[in-house]
Amino acid sequence: MSDLHVSRETFDEVMVPNYRPQTMVPVRGSGSKVWDQEGKEYIDFGGGIAVNALGHCHPRLVAAVKNQSEQLWHLSNVYTNEPALKLAKRLTELTFAERVYFCNSGAEANEAAFKLARKYAWDHHGPDKHEIIAFTNAFHGRTLFTVAVGGQEKYRRGFEPVPAGITHVPFNDLKAVEDAISDKTCAVVMEPVQGEGGIVPGDPEFVKGVRALCDKHNALLVFDEIQIGMGRSGELFSYMGLGVTPDILTSAKGLGGGFPVGAMLTTAEVAESLGFGTHGSTYGGNPMACAVALEVVNMVSDPALLASVPGKRARFVDALEKVNAEHNVFTEIRGKGLLVGAELKPEWHGKGAKFLAAAREEGLMLLVAGPKVLRMAPSLIITDEEIEEGMTRLSRAVASVVAAGPDS
Ligand SMILES: Cc1ncc(COP(=O)(O)O)c(C=O)c1O
Repeated sequence: MSDLHVSRETFDEVMVPNYRPQTMVPVRGSGSKVWDQEGKEYIDFGGGIAVNALGHCHPRLVAAVKNQSEQLWHLSNVYTNEPALKLAKRLTELTFAERVYFCNSGAEANEAAFKLARKYAWDHHGPDKHEIIAFTNAFHGRTLFTVAVGGQEKYRRGFEPVPAGITHVPFNDLKAVEDAISDKTCAVVMEPVQGEGGIVPGDPEFVKGVRALCDKHNALLVFDEIQIGMGRSGELFSYMGLGVTPDILTSAKGLGGGFPVGAMLTTAEVAESLGFGTHGSTYGGNPMACAVALEVVNMVSDPALLASVPGKRARFVDALEKVNAEHNVFTEIRGKGLLVGAELKPEWHGKGAKFLAAAREEGLMLLVAGPKVLRMAPSLIITDEEIEEGMTRLSRAVASVVAAGPDS
């Protein structure tokens, strides 16, 4: 029998080293609090990277898992199932979409979206119309197609050759899109708020301009709302606040509230191009995942919950401005809703890990977004007390990092 005692050291002994997790091992969570193996408490400002939209172990999500786990776990797509049909119905009622494809992660939702965009163009205009325009610093996942469409070279390096026919242009630069787009373009792909790329909101006029260029060139507009969607912007999906409707939208992360699930939403006409046998996933539309996601969608689409997002954002921004007034480490606080970015001053670029480690010591879970931005993506139902306590801990963490200096 192997010794089943595990610790952070076990990670380095048995796991592929593609991650470098923090030094503690969390074992339990409730709302926006988490406890580690030693019983130490943390306030969670990371939200599992914008996944735990309803915090940890929300009673209604626990009930959804329990109920479904006693009914039906898995069938495959040889059969359909009630939770998947109900979730798809709900998503089509609440959004522009008329058809839904389920999968298990954000990368898979994007993979389906990019394949569909190519196939739709191939069906309607022929094989020459296959080019995709995407944006510098964009992030769409880690499969080969999604790192190719993503705008960060470091995620492609060493994995080439990646799929071809993809052009990257600067985000929020309409002229660059205008210069790059042609009748060979099958799709323009964007995160309405870039997440991993540093929490950069798309300018509404830019997004509208891209929609018009897509219409002019018969290209599909694909919104990756995997990070900013599911209530985080203060709308169920952020396109709703932009006055621009995409042709394809991808969702994951918050959609399952911590249960792995992804979805691609589109119109009935575009969906026709993913005909029988063209694409699939064994687990896609799994009853367990869909039962949990249905409960998440029902809760997050509650107008009262969505209306509470701007007030919570204001608390985050006010507190961060106070931290900055005291410690002078940020150049800008930005983002949308409860996706909050604090850009560090140049002397702290590449030093985000120091802030994460200090936050951990103070009992706070924090994120970075690229080399120069601290990121917060908390639960949408984080309480005012949790925000206040978390910010007190953040202030202490920043004070200790500043006291040690950037070169410590
Ligand atoms: C905007 C965006 N798209 C896609 C992904 C990939 O999602 P997943 O890690 O579930 O494959 C992420 C993950 O960070 C993301 O933020």
